[in-house]
Amino acid sequence: MCGIVGYTGGREAAPFLLSGLRALEYRGYDSAGLAVMGEGGLQLAKTSGRIERLAEKTRGGAALPGRSGIGHTRWATHGAPTDVNAHPHVSCGGRFAVVHNGIIENYAALRAELTALGCSFRSETDTEVIAHLLELGYDGDFREALMRTVARLEGSYALGVVCTDFPGEVYAVREASPLILGLGAGENCFASDLAAIAPYTKSAVRLEDGQFARLRPEGVQVYDFAGRPVEPEIFRVDWGPEAAEKGGWEHFMLKEIMEQPRALRSALAPRLRDGLVDFGAELGSALPERLGSVVITACGSAYYAGCVGKLAIERLCRVPVTAELASELRYSDPLIGEDTLVIALSQSGETADTLAAVRECRSRGAKVLAIVNAEGSSLTKLADAVLYTRAGPEIAVASTKGYTTQVAVLTALAAELARRLGRLTEPELRELAAGLYRLPDAVQKAIDLNPGLPELARRYCLGGALYYIGRGTDRAVALEAALKMKEISYRHAEAYAAGELKHGTIALVEEGTSVVALCCRTELLGKMISSIEEVKARGAKVLAVAPAGERRILAAADDVITVPRTGPLLDPVAEIVPLQLLAYYAARELGCDIDKPKNLAKSVTVE
Ligand code: G6P
Repeated sequence: MCGIVGYTGGREAAPFLLSGLRALEYRGYDSAGLAVMGEGGLQLAKTSGRIERLAEKTRGGAALPGRSGIGHTRWATHGAPTDVNAHPHVSCGGRFAVVHNGIIENYAALRAELTALGCSFRSETDTEVIAHLLELGYDGDFREALMRTVARLEGSYALGVVCTDFPGEVYAVREASPLILGLGAGENCFASDLAAIAPYTKSAVRLEDGQFARLRPEGVQVYDFAGRPVEPEIFRVDWGPEAAEKGGWEHFMLKEIMEQPRALRSALAPRLRDGLVDFGAELGSALPERLGSVVITACGSAYYAGCVGKLAIERLCRVPVTAELASELRYSDPLIGEDTLVIALSQSGETADTLAAVRECRSRGAKVLAIVNAEGSSLTKLADAVLYTRAGPEIAVASTKGYTTQVAVLTALAAELARRLGRLTEPELRELAAGLYRLPDAVQKAIDLNPGLPELARRYCLGGALYYIGRGTDRAVALEAALKMKEISYRHAEAYAAGELKHGTIALVEEGTSVVALCCRTELLGKMISSIEEVKARGAKVLAVAPAGERRILAAADDVITVPRTGPLLDPVAEIVPLQLLAYYAARELGCDIDKPKNLAKSVTVE
């Protein structure tokens, strides 16, 4: 969603800010803008649409000379994505400019109050109240004006602020929306996402909620909202320059799909020891003394990973597990108590609904274990223990390696819990671990075995209705496979439990309908073949996903995507990979903006 970049130092600020904004494009946005402090004072450029338009409008930044400034990509919440609503927003007197991620919940009351005091509003945004509050609270001290302003704000916000009286000074503010400071020699910067500043800095600081920072070329000071100095905790940025680059791939999504064997190795290797799953001390104090139940919560692909994890934990540990969407869980008065282990999944660790659901669960006494990719993200701060998925930066909006590493870590966790609960014998545990050791190679095989996917995408996915069906873990994977297709190709795809077809959906099956039948559950193969026959009898063409050498499927389906056998609990990981590719090739064929699909954001930081 929205992105923030700020800079002060010896370089021209505008080109720096534009490059930072480009690195944030993947998060999703619909307008962009810059404010640069130069000799002539505050200079502003804003536009709806892509950053390239902003770059053209400012001649690559040359039209805004100056060495400090702030930039923003906006994903519209309050007010349409127009030039006027784009950030930065400026106070009436033109002294302050501000960029903002998040939502100011009390903005309507503030707007009414400020209008009564004579402020004239130019935009429909909630953000503009901040610029006017700064101006009204200003008596010559920038820092004080900022503290007075944040004291009036309710909601979530990360801010970048400049003031014409203090050229070379930039403020960064964080309350429930991420912001990272990048430290350099004679220059300093900040951004809402490491991707924007990683190429320029090796040392960084994560601002905590309720903190703000003053950045000048010669140094950075961090304060809490009461104005007390805070000693910042510096961490090393170890992104290689290639981590956020395409490295020769046509799209980030394709690169990230192909990276999955490597990502899975780095997710699993630290949790496998001497032929067994072993999480060592990683679970910390997150396990309740008596494990009564498990609740898995997340949004989007992470939720679908949770649906696979539910089946694995229930099967191996024999404790009741529910997987619940975070946006539903928080309002459902959930049955959660001190004997509940809550597992929260999030690639970004910043999804607003997931964070809110976790807060709700904690308030009911539950322990929270977070499974997260982004180090140091907000979710990691809320949890009793964190399991990192170590997938590396995921840039494409549609999750791929984020999802498979979540499923792999959850399955390994299921084995770890089963071991601790004494539910499995050592040979059973060894067999599970052996499957996990083999998983990265199996995923590579699932890619290598299916060179015909571009052609299959053309034949099955470009027109007519598209259904994904499966049973058990196959059904959980079908949900994610259909989501991938919808997200990037904009084709309407639905996932159904195969057994539910005849309770309604089969009425929609007709000549030309495409059905992708996931058939990795060997014990349910007979049932899946019946479902395939049913839809074929009504004119559907069927593309099956099945283990190598499964003759009965070769006979029943029109075409087959072959995947290696990895064992009932691990099949989902190998199985989803060709289906990610199927969606990718369909979207490519349809000319879609694969890495940045319309209306979607990588990290949904508003509810
Ligand atoms: C957005 C993204 C999805 C992602 C979901 C949850 O909708 O577009 O790809 O699965 O958020 O994100 P999280 O970072 O919490 O895993």
